[in-house]
Amino acid sequence: MSLTLNIVGAGKLGQTLGRLWQQLGFFQIHSICNRSRQSADAARNFIGAGSACESIAAMGDADCWLIAAGDGQIADVAAQLAPRMNGRDCTVIFHCSGALSSEILSPCQPAAIASAHPVHSFADPEKSLRSLAGSTVALEGEWPAIELLQRAFTALDCELLTIDSSKKALYHAGSVFACNYLTALMDLSLRTFSSAGIERERALELLKPIVLQTAGNNMAMGPEQSLTGPIARGDVDTVRRQLAALAQTDTQLTRCYRQLGLACVELARRNQLPGPLAEELIDLLSEPSR
Ligand SMILES: NC(=O)c1ccc[n+]([C@@H]2O[C@H](COP(=O)([O-])OP(=O)(O)OC[C@H]3O[C@@H](n4cnc5c(N)ncnc54)[C@H](OP(=O)(O)O)[C@@H]3O)[C@@H](O)[C@H]2O)c1
Repeated sequence: MSLTLNIVGAGKLGQTLGRLWQQLGFFQIHSICNRSRQSADAARNFIGAGSACESIAAMGDADCWLIAAGDGQIADVAAQLAPRMNGRDCTVIFHCSGALSSEILSPCQPAAIASAHPVHSFADPEKSLRSLAGSTVALEGEWPAIELLQRAFTALDCELLTIDSSKKALYHAGSVFACNYLTALMDLSLRTFSSAGIERERALELLKPIVLQTAGNNMAMGPEQSLTGPIARGDVDTVRRQLAALAQTDTQLTRCYRQLGLACVELARRNQLPGPLAEELIDLLSEPSR
């Protein structure tokens, strides 16, 4: 017989996982609670099972609880659930935040606590039903919970990655660098093109092939082999001219150019940039002392 699962916060992620597990028969969805009754009813209809509840207090007991409210609500939901978990060391409680560890669920112990972060965008639950398989899920927490979640996500054909609980924030920062900061880099690039008189649409057109190619090279060969441009070549004069030109724009562009340039020197060094050229570039790119 399948284990029962309660979902507090059946939004984009909660509804998707609930429906997939219900369809597979891995979990039997029991109670669903959102902020509004209307939203809980809609989630129940999407999942195709379970009872929509007015409040957490109205939810029945279950073998496993998924807290899939927004990150800012997880601590509050855990505090509401905590009194129900007295003596329930066989119950599993987990959340799916990438930024928070399972520690935030500690008020619910002795229930076994964990976090399971699917590296997937649940923007459209209908699409995610078809595209979640193959995504990686990063797990951390207490063993009985991890063991169950490994089976639950394997049943969805997800790849598993177990991470150290104390490293959860670093794990998330890793994705922030590659995803969010890449977007910030695109904006810095467009602002710089704009200062050079190249309008946004034209700049995006111009960037598209090289940005996609660079992403592809990084995936195929890693950053060391993918770095090209003046720093990889040790072309100090070009870097000096670019810094002088950026100094005529705004300070944020110059600062970012310096900091990222220093990261590029580190990378180029690992790919045989001669030491003296690296030192010259580091001197040039370091913030001038005030
Ligand atoms: N979306 C993604 O791509 C994604 C990817 C990986 C991980 N995650 C993680 O998954 C979790 C959920 O994200 P999401 O995008 O699915 O959020 P969402 O679509 O905004 O859904 C959140 C749901 O939680 C409900 N809720 C909020 N506060 C509540 C409370 N105090 N009690 C009961 N229900 C409450 C909301 O109810 P109402 O509908 O009534 O407002 C809503 O249905 C987050 O921890 C997020 O970091 C999301």
